[in-house]
Amino acid sequence: MTSPISTEKHGHVLIIRSNNPPVNALGAAVRQGLVAGIEEAEAAEDIKAAVIICEGQTFFAGADITEFGKPPVMPWLPEVVDRIEACSKPVVAAIHGTALGGGLEVALGCHYRCAVASAKLGVPEVKLGLLPGAGGTQRLPRVAGVEKALQMVTTGTPISAQEAFEIGLVDRMIEGDLLQHAVAYATEVADVRPLPRSSERQGKIEEASPTAFDDFIAANPRTFKGFEAPMKNLEAVRAATLKPYAEGVMDERKLFMELMSGTQAKAQQYFFFAERKAAKIEGVDETVKPREIKRVGVIGAGTMGGGISMNFLSAGIPVTIVEMSQEALDRGAGVMLRNYEASAKKGRFTAEQVGQMMGLLNPTLDFDSLADCDLIIEAVFEQMEIKKDIFGRLDKIAKPDAILASNTSYLNVDEIAAATSRPQDVVGLHFFSPANVMKLLEVVRGAKTADDVLVTAMALAKKIKKVAVVAGVCYGFIGNRMLIPRQTEATKLLLEGATPAQIDKVHTDFGMPMGPFQMADLAGVDIGWHRDVNRIENIRDALCSADRWGQKKGAGFYDYDDKRRPSPSPTVQGIIEEFRTKAGVTPREISDEEIAQRTLYTMVNEGAKILEEGMAQRASDIDVVWVYGYGWPVYRGGPMHWADAEGLQKIVDGLKAAAPHMGDDFSFSQLLLDKAAKGEKFTGR
Ligand code: 3HC
Repeated sequence: MTSPISTEKHGHVLIIRSNNPPVNALGAAVRQGLVAGIEEAEAAEDIKAAVIICEGQTFFAGADITEFGKPPVMPWLPEVVDRIEACSKPVVAAIHGTALGGGLEVALGCHYRCAVASAKLGVPEVKLGLLPGAGGTQRLPRVAGVEKALQMVTTGTPISAQEAFEIGLVDRMIEGDLLQHAVAYATEVADVRPLPRSSERQGKIEEASPTAFDDFIAANPRTFKGFEAPMKNLEAVRAATLKPYAEGVMDERKLFMELMSGTQAKAQQYFFFAERKAAKIEGVDETVKPREIKRVGVIGAGTMGGGISMNFLSAGIPVTIVEMSQEALDRGAGVMLRNYEASAKKGRFTAEQVGQMMGLLNPTLDFDSLADCDLIIEAVFEQMEIKKDIFGRLDKIAKPDAILASNTSYLNVDEIAAATSRPQDVVGLHFFSPANVMKLLEVVRGAKTADDVLVTAMALAKKIKKVAVVAGVCYGFIGNRMLIPRQTEATKLLLEGATPAQIDKVHTDFGMPMGPFQMADLAGVDIGWHRDVNRIENIRDALCSADRWGQKKGAGFYDYDDKRRPSPSPTVQGIIEEFRTKAGVTPREISDEEIAQRTLYTMVNEGAKILEEGMAQRASDIDVVWVYGYGWPVYRGGPMHWADAEGLQKIVDGLKAAAPHMGDDFSFSQLLLDKAAKGEKFTGR
C-alpha cells in the first residue's frame, strides 16, 4: 500500500506532504510516514530544513478518531510530535484549512508555523470528551499563553489564523501560494540556531497569573457543568505551569487515559459520528443532485416564520415573506431587525452586514409574490384545514419544481401534500424554536416526496448551518413524539404525589437544560389550548383557565418574579390537590427512580417504536434529534446511546416495575423487548 506521506526536495528544503483524504487525519500510516520524512530530512546532507504540508481541503484535522478503542499501532502521536521537535534541522508547518487537535499538536512540534488567512487552529478534543494527548496541553500554553490555552482546550473552539498570529501561535501569515512561501520561509530560517522548540519555552508560563485557573473556573461555570473533560483539560494546563515539561506530559498522559476509558468520551465520540451519519439518506442514490435554491418564500412572519427567514438571510439567500396584515408584517420584520442588531452588539455581525441581510428580505402582503421562489416554507397556525388551504393556493401559483415545505411540528405531511397536484415536491421542514438559533431541523419525508427534494433539503440545511435528520410521517415525528409519553407520565406523577420541582430536578440532575414543567412554562402551557372550549379536564386546562400560561404570564407550573426566576407555586399545589381529591387518589411518596423510569425510560421505549416503524433511519438519528433539539446532554450520547450504556434489560425491568402505575398509557416496544432479550444494543457502539 502506498504511503499517504510523500517527500520531495525543493533545493535545500524537504517537503513532507500528506495526502490522506478527506481531512488528513493522523492515522497510523500518516504517523509512520511523518517519522520517515523527518528521518529523511535528518539524514540527507543536502537538506537544511523541512516543510510539513497537506493536500486537499485541510491540514491535519487531528488523530484518526476511528482508531480510538482499537489496539494501538506504533508510532504513537506523542512520539511523532517529539520526533519532529527533536529534529536537528528546522521544520516549518504550512497550515491551511483547519489544524485541529493532533494536527495542531504536530504544528506545535514544528519549529515554525505559517498559515494562510482562512486557516483555523484549535484543540477540539474536549468535544470528544478528551484532552490534547500529544503534548498539546504542555506546548500550547508555552506558545500561546496560559489564558488563551485554557480557553482553547476547555471550549474546543478554534481561533482564526490572524488571532493565532497575534498571540504568537502562528509565526508568519502567508498571502499567495502556501507551499512556495513556506519553502522560502524554511530557506530563510535554515541556519538559525538554537531551534525554537515549543517544549523548551518558559516565558509565557512564568507570566501567567497565579489565579488564572480559579478565575477561569469562576468566570465559566457552564463550561464545566456535567462534563468531565473540561476540568481535566484545565488540570493538564495547570500541570504545565507547575511542573517541568517532562513531568507535565506524564500528567497529560494520565489524565488523557482517564478520560479515554470513561463513559463520557465514548458517548461524545459516538455522537461525533452520529451527527455525520444523520446527513446520509437511506435509499437515495448518491448521484441525485439537489435543486437550485436561489430564493426562499416564507408564509407567516410570526416567531417561527421570522426565525426561519433569518437562517436564509444570514446565508445570503433572499427571502420573500408573506403575511395577512401590514401590522403583522411590520412586527415580524421589526423583530428580525432587532435580533440582528442584538447579535451585532455581541460582535457577531457588523452594522453593514445587518443592513445587507435585511436588504435581502422582501416583506409583502401579496401571496402571488411567492411565484418566483424555489422553496416556499409555510409557518402558520398548526391547523390542518389552514395548512391544506395554503398548499392548495400554493399549488396554483408556485413555479414548476418549486419545493413546498410545511413547518408543521405534528401534522400529517402526506395529508398536506394531498392538497396539491404535486405531492412529490412537498416535504416537512420542522424547525425548532427559536428557529434562528436551534441547530436541529427535522426533514419529514412524505410517502411521495421526491429524492431530489430530500437531497435539496439536506444540502440546504448544511448551508444554513443546521443539523438535519430525516423523519417519517407520524404524529410529532421523532422529537415531539417522544415528548408525549414523557409529558403524560410527568403529569400523572403530579397527581400521584410528586411536585413539578421534584420531577424537573430529576431531569436537570440528569443533565437536561430543563425538566418537563420548566419546558412547558417556557414554551407556553397554553399551546394547543382554546379558551372557548372552556372545559377543565386536567391540570393543564386548570392552569390555562387561571391565566397561568407560563413564563410569558409570570405564572405557570411555577410562579415567576420580575426577573423570571421560578419558585414553587401554592396555587398550583392547590390545583393538583383538587384534582387528586376529584380522582380519589391518595398521594404517595414517589422516588426519583420511579420518575426516571416513567419519564426517561418511556422515551427510550417510544424511540424504539419510532425505529421499528421506520420513522427514523437509525437509532443514532434519534440521538441527534434529542441532543440538538432538546439539549439532551451530549456526554450521555442521546436517549438511545444512553439506554445502551444503561443496559436494555435494565430499561425493560424498570418499565415493568413502573407499568402498573402507567396503565393503558403504556405499551412495550417489541423491538426494545427483543433487543434486551438478545443482549443487543440500538447504537452498536
Ligand atoms: N478522524 C477520523 N475521521 C474524521 C476525522 C478524524 N479526526 N475528522 C473528520 N473525519 C471524517 C468524518 O467522519 C467524515 O467522514 P464521512 O464522510 O465518512 O462522514 C469526513 O471526515 C468529513 O468530515 P466532516 O463531514 O466533518 O467535514 P467538514 O468539512 O464539515 O469538517 C472538520 C471538517 C472541521 C475537520 C471536521 O471534520 C472536524 O471537526 N473533525 C474533527 C476534528 C477533531 O475533533 N480533531 C481532534 C481529534 S482527537 C485528537 O486529535 C487527539 C489527540 O490530541 C491525541
